[in-house]
Amino acid sequence: MPGRTDSRRIHTPIELGLTLHNETAGFMTTRANTSPRCIVVKLGGSLITRDTGTGPWIETGLVIDLARELSALNRPLVVVHGTGAFGKPPAERYAYLHGHLSAERRGVVAEVTAHLAGYESLLLEHLLDGGLYPYRISTAALMRGTSAGCRLADAEPARQLLRHGVTAVVGGGFVTTSTGFRVCSSDDVASDLAHAVQADCLIFATRAGGVYRAFGTDSRVYDEVDGDYLLGPKSHDDAERDVSGGMVAKVRAGLRASERGIATFVVDGRIPGNLGATLSGRPLSGTRIRSRSGERG
Ligand SMILES: Nc1ncnc2c1ncn2[C@@H]1O[C@H](COP(=O)(O)OP(=O)(O)O)[C@@H](O)[C@H]1O
Ligand SMILES: [Mg+2]
Repeated sequence: MPGRTDSRRIHTPIELGLTLHNETAGFMTTRANTSPRCIVVKLGGSLITRDTGTGPWIETGLVIDLARELSALNRPLVVVHGTGAFGKPPAERYAYLHGHLSAERRGVVAEVTAHLAGYESLLLEHLLDGGLYPYRISTAALMRGTSAGCRLADAEPARQLLRHGVTAVVGGGFVTTSTGFRVCSSDDVASDLAHAVQADCLIFATRAGGVYRAFGTDSRVYDEVDGDYLLGPKSHDDAERDVSGGMVAKVRAGLRASERGIATFVVDGRIPGNLGATLSGRPLSGTRIRSRSGERG
């Protein structure tokens, strides 16, 4: 990808060593503001990870570049991220693509959560390298599984971190339900958190130009979609078959935020400068999710 540096294979944090941070620069940039509204940016798993057949990789250069871009925006920030190439193979291997696990399967939950922790740790390092002050919040502490999906349980830790000038980071992962566990889509986390922290903008950065008019056959993206998009014919790409739900679920989660007055976009995360352009209302490549009842302008 032009303008982006290369990716690297997963290493343990000990192999990599920790990068020390320049505390003054970040602190001053957050404090100099007169309390601007928060933004929530979801980095899609398909965007920031890949599987080349030899195991999962993080798109290191891309993540650091995105973090630099986000840090330059100088806004209170929540980063939500997918698990992508790290999350899907275990879901296939242990057959929970449908998203539910009974309490008896706690061994699977524990093992996969430990596996994901290595990925999550590397992501935090890359966000640090890009100039952010990331702090991870446990998905299970934040969200609960219900019969209708996963919903926010307690957003106060995220609000508190934002007040302290810290970037709250949350990933997709397992959350508890009354009978066991459920896989929580990071699109749902992003949508619910955006509302809870009173964000004025929610950006789903993904590995696509935006919402394509016809996936696989028409690569033009819609400038805007509303709830009617969910009624039309859909593609049946791989992503739709797993619990994350692919583009359809993303639009659905986006509509929930949009109905609550939040300017919501699905944008191409591969394009340098696209996050900033989106924040000013004009993505270089992307689609606005607009509800009829919610946000205006
Ligand atoms: N209409 C569409 N527009 C864009 N992408 C689509 C569409 N329909 C299906 N897709 C697929 O959905 C993917 C985005 O969903 P997903 O892989 O879950 O992204 P993320 O990792 O960002 O959550 C695209 O990369 C593409 O493969
Ligand atoms: Mg997804």
